[in-house]
Amino acid sequence: MMSDSAEPDLPVHDVVGVGFGPSNLGLAIAAAEQGLDARFVERQERFGWHRGMLLQDATMQISYLKDLVTLRNPASPYSFLSYLHDRDRLADFINYGSAFPTRLEFHDYLEWVAAAFADQVAYDCEVTAIQPVAGEPGLLDVRTSGGVLRARNVVLATGLVPRLPEGVRASERVWHSRDLLPGTEAALARGTAPQRVVVIGAGQSAAEAVDHLHRTFTDAQVCAVFARYGYSPADDSAFANRVFDPAAVDDFFRAPSGVKDAILGYHANTNYSVVDPELIESLYRTHYHERVSGRERLEFRNVSRVADAVETDDRVELAVESLIDGARDVLSADLVVYATGYRSADPGRLLGGLAARCRRDADGRLDMCRDYRVATDPAIAAGIYVQGATEHTHGLSSTLLSNVAVRSGEIAASVAASVRSGHLAPTHS
Ligand code: FDA
Repeated sequence: MMSDSAEPDLPVHDVVGVGFGPSNLGLAIAAAEQGLDARFVERQERFGWHRGMLLQDATMQISYLKDLVTLRNPASPYSFLSYLHDRDRLADFINYGSAFPTRLEFHDYLEWVAAAFADQVAYDCEVTAIQPVAGEPGLLDVRTSGGVLRARNVVLATGLVPRLPEGVRASERVWHSRDLLPGTEAALARGTAPQRVVVIGAGQSAAEAVDHLHRTFTDAQVCAVFARYGYSPADDSAFANRVFDPAAVDDFFRAPSGVKDAILGYHANTNYSVVDPELIESLYRTHYHERVSGRERLEFRNVSRVADAVETDDRVELAVESLIDGARDVLSADLVVYATGYRSADPGRLLGGLAARCRRDADGRLDMCRDYRVATDPAIAAGIYVQGATEHTHGLSSTLLSNVAVRSGEIAASVAASVRSGHLAPTHS
């Protein structure tokens, strides 16, 4: 077990946020509303939200009204509408006529907010461990590549980790979809346009990668390999969308575990392995027009899986197996993109010895309180909060942006209450 931290006296912050993506950016605003002394640590050199997938026309999958503040505080100066006003684009956006801005525009909004909190963030700085402070049960030391920050509370919002199949290693010609843009730019800069590209997966990122690579490398064959029969549309219908409402978090949190599992199962198709219907239609039309023209560059290997992949000096040999009859053939590709999704970063990784003092459920997952605080043993009086990796307790919106405004308000209010009372209430979920 990691020993307690014995750093000399350090200034004590009310809250230190680990990671400065949209979740903790939302928290920065909510903490300021509560008058809290907050600091954040971010390993990227500057603010960035999935920069490797900021494709030209890709749109947000949530309404602009689900920005960092509006659902909690529509009067906040950090709303998407305030951003548009500041950029002198409010009337233009109204004429744009959609509630779904491009990811590029939403990224610009997030950067605009992040700039307002720059003095509270250490960029290019990685949190390596969080430790209790010797003799001070109400304090934690956050160890970073740039020194130590002491806090009464920490909020872990470290986001998603790209998932590659067992045994696959990323390389110059094997990418995870998160590196789509830098990979493309590097290939263009080298002057080595691929001739045969394979994209693995059938979710939104996979379909976007197929579309992007097909448009960018105009001589390349682009082959999609996936287990489904075809791309399936994301359920964005009004009743299903309620699963992302703030009130749904209350319902989910209170529900018995069997009902939680059922809700996650029924509504997985709002988020997982599904594609925006417009993109599906556009890809299908491109495919059909190519069939008409007789020059087919798009190819779909459905109901299939990659059984084996071997990288040589100048290509990757993929054994693609039909799930229908087991027939295999080898695709020789000079670029393979795995759009095989993400998993939430394990908050326990940074907690070291503290992790043993956090309660777990029967499946070994962190036991979370309604206010996103980890239930710990009573010896830990400091608050450890988690944003993101709480789908098992708080539902489908946990890894998404839909609930950032309300969730960060709840966390900031919980932190403020504990700071004002000088101690934390006992944790119980
Ligand atoms: P996020 O991953 O954004 O940020 C975490 C930050 O923590 C990162 O900046 C990382 O560098 C930092 N970090 C991690 N470990 C650290 C450490 N040890 N020390 C310091 N810093 C550390 N959702 C949605 O609702 N609508 C949408 O349209 C989309 N679109 C979308 C597109 C793409 C391409 C992806 C991959 C995902 C989405 N999402 C989404 C889902 C996505 O998870 C969500 O939009 C946010 O990124 C969640 O924000 P977070 O701040 O929680 O994580």
